[in-house]
Amino acid sequence: MCGIFGYVGKRVDAGRVVIRGIKNLEYRGYDSWGIARMIDGSIAVEKNIGKIGAVNPESFSDVCSLAIAHTRWATHGGVTVANAHPHLSQDGSIAVVHNGIIENFQALRSELEKKGYVFQSETDTEVICHLLQEEMKSAKSFADAARAACRRFDGWYAFAAMNTGTHELVAARRGSPLIVGIGKGETFIASDIPAFMEHTRTVNYLDNGEMIVTNGERTTFLSIENGKEIKKRNVEITWDREQAEKGEYEHFMLKEIMDQKESIRRAVNQDEEQIQTIADAIRDAKGTFLSGCGTAGKVCMAAEYFFSVIAKHHVNYAPSSEFPLYHHFLLPESLLIVVSQSGETVDVLEAMETAKKKGAKVLAIVNAEGSSIHRLADYTLLINAGPERAVASTKAATGQMAVLLLIAYALKKRLNEGRQVLLEAAEQTNDMLNPRYLTHIEGIADRLKRHENLYIIGKSWNYPMALESAIKIQEVSYVHAEGFAGGELKHGPIALIQKGTPCIALLGNDEVKMDTLSNTIELRARGAHTIGIAPEKNEAFDEWIRVPDAGTAQAIVNVIPVQILAYYLALKRGLDPDMPRNLAKSVTVK
Ligand code: M6R
Repeated sequence: MCGIFGYVGKRVDAGRVVIRGIKNLEYRGYDSWGIARMIDGSIAVEKNIGKIGAVNPESFSDVCSLAIAHTRWATHGGVTVANAHPHLSQDGSIAVVHNGIIENFQALRSELEKKGYVFQSETDTEVICHLLQEEMKSAKSFADAARAACRRFDGWYAFAAMNTGTHELVAARRGSPLIVGIGKGETFIASDIPAFMEHTRTVNYLDNGEMIVTNGERTTFLSIENGKEIKKRNVEITWDREQAEKGEYEHFMLKEIMDQKESIRRAVNQDEEQIQTIADAIRDAKGTFLSGCGTAGKVCMAAEYFFSVIAKHHVNYAPSSEFPLYHHFLLPESLLIVVSQSGETVDVLEAMETAKKKGAKVLAIVNAEGSSIHRLADYTLLINAGPERAVASTKAATGQMAVLLLIAYALKKRLNEGRQVLLEAAEQTNDMLNPRYLTHIEGIADRLKRHENLYIIGKSWNYPMALESAIKIQEVSYVHAEGFAGGELKHGPIALIQKGTPCIALLGNDEVKMDTLSNTIELRARGAHTIGIAPEKNEAFDEWIRVPDAGTAQAIVNVIPVQILAYYLALKRGLDPDMPRNLAKSVTVK
């Protein structure tokens, strides 16, 4: 959470460059924004609460070739101008933008206060600025001071800093992502590639425990631990900038929903040998665990059913935030499969660390190539969904499910059959996502928009999809949505149903269809307004959203109409679906 962007080089409009760039990171947080520019040897800071999207880059056109910018998702300290980044050291000589949490900031703050430093904000970030000023008293260079400061920080963080004494940008990473863009005589440093993609496609990933110092001409990577130089290999980005743009759509969320016409097919297009190797690793493992957060977690739950129904193979799911407790069950021969769109979710990284400490191997199913999770895993499968920018995960979820379903088939040595099922589902999704379909669901959203409670039921893989549907609706429309296993209704939740309560039932033509239909009838008997998402119409439904009959890929196609419903519910309730309150796209804090 939070976006960082820094520039140093030969351009004289660095202010404009970083404001334009940081706008592409707004998905990482949009509570407040700020910029620090080196102008005539001193640092000029401007910051405010609200979204960076509304800020005009042209207002930052003074001559300047070193600047840093930030877009914030508040953790320590409320959403105020004082807490917005950049923060300055006491003497105003150092400016810092930061992502993550300095866990021992209270101890460092008291220590610095005793030395006379006066804090202007409630943030943990401010300790970085003052500690850098303190370390500068004895350090030989700005980079040395930064390294000494880093060695005192606990927690997961990434920061970029500049000071008035040098024409250098210094940045360091432990946990939260930082990517270096290498241009001709200029360097960019950012939390994510779209920030600098219009300028360069040559990147270098800063790994955990590394820092850089750069003046634009020369960039040096150093180990924070021992200060030794680290040789890095440049990587060329292969995806298009257009893939990260909204194109003809008003919102990223709708664009990404519509991308599923293609992205499911791309996910299926995996290297056969690699899938088979992974399937073999699952078969040989003494215990396979699946883990992820939020939507990716619900995908893992769906995969439990894929593995059991298709491959008759038992796997265990745990949300990544709970996974560290699983260390009791892990063996060196265990396998952990983590699922993540961003590849940067800190809880997932911690789950991986737990498994690795026990000597277990980790397979990662990720979307963001080059992300931390991608680089730290023993095996990786990319879902190739293209950049996902809306906070609500849509095409990444269906891509992840496609890959996991494929693995389940490979485990049963029926890979080709799995591919066929999925390619057919991709084809059917393509047909389904037409303007008439969207209009039909928009109409339902219009009828539901004033309801504050909505329930979703499902069974088998449609049960995790009911949970996922609830996340989608909650996060963008703020409607209180809850998903249940249909069979659980009678054990409590049915008491919530009153006349007109909207309830969605997710169904397929499978062994549990009749059970879910009975549950839908039970809901209706209590007065619920039922909306069936199913391949066939049924009299149990007051309204029906048709989905293709996708067999074992039903979970994939069933979640798509709910994504569309959530999107329109947000619009009808006057909300911006791309920027839900209190959330950020990638969760790099615990
Ligand atoms: O990047 P990740 O897939 O690891 O993110 C995990 C969750 O934070 C994410 O799926 C979140 O639940 C989405 N906002 C849901 O749409």
